[in-house]
Amino acid sequence: MAHFAALVGLGSYLPPRRVTNEELASTFDTSDEWITTRTGIRARHWASSGVATSDLAVEAGHRALKSANLPMEPGAVDAVVLATTTPDHPCPATAPQVAARLGLGTVAAYDIAAVCSGFLYALATASAQITAGQAERVLVIGAETYSTILNPADRTTSVIFGDGAGAVVLAAVPDADRPGVIINVDLGSDGSQQDLITIPGGGSRERATPGEPDPQDRYFTMQGKKVFAEAVTRMGDSASALLGRVGWPVDSVGHLVGHQANIRILKALAQRLGLPGERVVVNIDRVGNTSAASIPVALAEAAAAGTLTTGSRVLLTAFGGGLTWGSAALTWPELNPA
Ligand code: UT7
Repeated sequence: MAHFAALVGLGSYLPPRRVTNEELASTFDTSDEWITTRTGIRARHWASSGVATSDLAVEAGHRALKSANLPMEPGAVDAVVLATTTPDHPCPATAPQVAARLGLGTVAAYDIAAVCSGFLYALATASAQITAGQAERVLVIGAETYSTILNPADRTTSVIFGDGAGAVVLAAVPDADRPGVIINVDLGSDGSQQDLITIPGGGSRERATPGEPDPQDRYFTMQGKKVFAEAVTRMGDSASALLGRVGWPVDSVGHLVGHQANIRILKALAQRLGLPGERVVVNIDRVGNTSAASIPVALAEAAAAGTLTTGSRVLLTAFGGGLTWGSAALTWPELNPA
């Protein structure tokens, strides 16, 4: 019997420490006016010292399981997939620890590294495990602590990124037209432009450079202007390709949930697609760019606010380092986000 993968649980978690633009402006050369007009961000949440990505992932995972009415015990899910750019350690992956702390037993657990597109790559992988009949339920988490990799001397990146985690549960269902089914996905990459978003050090490439590693190389770097242009083009093209594949006219899309990278990017994307601005889900003003957590956090907040209504056609699209990008299409299911 054919299986389809449907979204049946959703949750998110932000660390309690809220950092406003005014607070940042009191510590380095920036202003609330610059940040708000150039990015749309008013505040972001940063994890306190000692809090790691797995801590946020466990909270969001717990909430998604609760939303799906699943217990925190072995057998609840068959796999845990964690998308992150900021794992607890370079080795091992963070997902096994998250699975263990959630009480999920000895399930398959692995990380996905696709930077800000990570959640969509994870969603695609989890969905494929279900449609292949290898899993019945998968917990998919996007979790980040970018505050641990930001260069305090780089005001451009320091004002943009926030910490947080979002999670969904996908479950096998027999019918393709049930709300929540991941109808199709589109993924892509362009490694020739890897330098646009990178942490230069800390990996195997560093050994090729003789001498002491430069501590500055451990920080996240981004060539903002080039990334901006690529983000609009790649997300636009990916979303259009997916709409064509699933046969949805653009006007039939009820909600566009795009990666919350910059309000100007979201507006340009909507314009490129020909989608009215009011159909674009926005929470970047409150959370900043939370990278792999961006889409599940936006979904959870929009669902909790009643913005996403059952039966509405929802288009997800993201772009990030790699370069990588991806889109997914689903009809919004009935569920209670936690
Ligand atoms: O999540 C992965 C995908 N990420 C993205 O898609 C991010 C894409 N890029 C962007 O969102 C934007 O390029 C940024 C928000 C990063 C930067 O905005 P921009 O409009 O491209 O600004 P810019 O880098 O060209 O800088 C304009 C000016 C510069 O000053 P001068 O050279 O014109 O005097 C910067 O030094 O703004 C200055 N600036 C700042 N001023 C106050 C840069 N950062 C700041 C700051 N506060 N935080």
